[in-house]
Amino acid sequence: MKSTRGLFISVEGVDGAGKSTQLAWLAEWLTRRGVPLIQTREPGGTPLGEQLRACLLREPMHLETEALLMFAARREHLAQVIVPALARGDWVLCDRFSDATYAYQGGGRGLAPARIQQLEDWVQGQGPGRCEPDLTLLFDVPPEVSNARLASGRMLDRFEREAADFHARVREAYLARAAAAPQRIRVVDASGTPQAIQAHLAGMLPQWLGLP
Ligand code: TYD
Repeated sequence: MKSTRGLFISVEGVDGAGKSTQLAWLAEWLTRRGVPLIQTREPGGTPLGEQLRACLLREPMHLETEALLMFAARREHLAQVIVPALARGDWVLCDRFSDATYAYQGGGRGLAPARIQQLEDWVQGQGPGRCEPDLTLLFDVPPEVSNARLASGRMLDRFEREAADFHARVREAYLARAAAAPQRIRVVDASGTPQAIQAHLAGMLPQWLGLP
């Protein structure tokens, strides 16, 4: 039986940063190195969380309701999926986590970070037992690039339909979090081609993850 705790990796970025393409590549890169991996997402990742996601991406609601539902889905996700997987020794690759709440509900919508912190302390715990990502990859692009990618045709959800200044505030909040936690949150310039970004990641990931 595997005894060591797995690593928890989250992937973040504004809508249109190209996160999905990089997530698929990252999962394959880790699996090729023999890492036992589960892939999941927020909001979502459990049957209840996916129902909450459908509401969150569709229904207009009070800003605090939005933050509370994000953390309700997260509580369930931690209990049902993330904590058991890490305890088994599996690694968890998660499409967004709490940094997204600071960026979208905090930066984008203006909810006080202290409020988000209260929910984070409650749901993720405090002190050494706190459950948070070991590594967060923040795919960063300037607004011209993300707006152009979003404009490329598919159906947009409630967050993606927000105005350009909303996305600019989301990006600023993400970058501020990365500046405050540079060891955990690695900013990846995602304005180049997928191949260029992947070449950069392949060079940096062993060091960021402590892999040979
Ligand atoms: P996203 O992860 O981008 O999925 P897709 O690529 O399939 O559109 O969509 C989730 C949306 O939810 C995204 O716009 C950001 C938003 N979100 C928050 O506002 N707060 C959060 O805490 C999380 C996890 C996501």
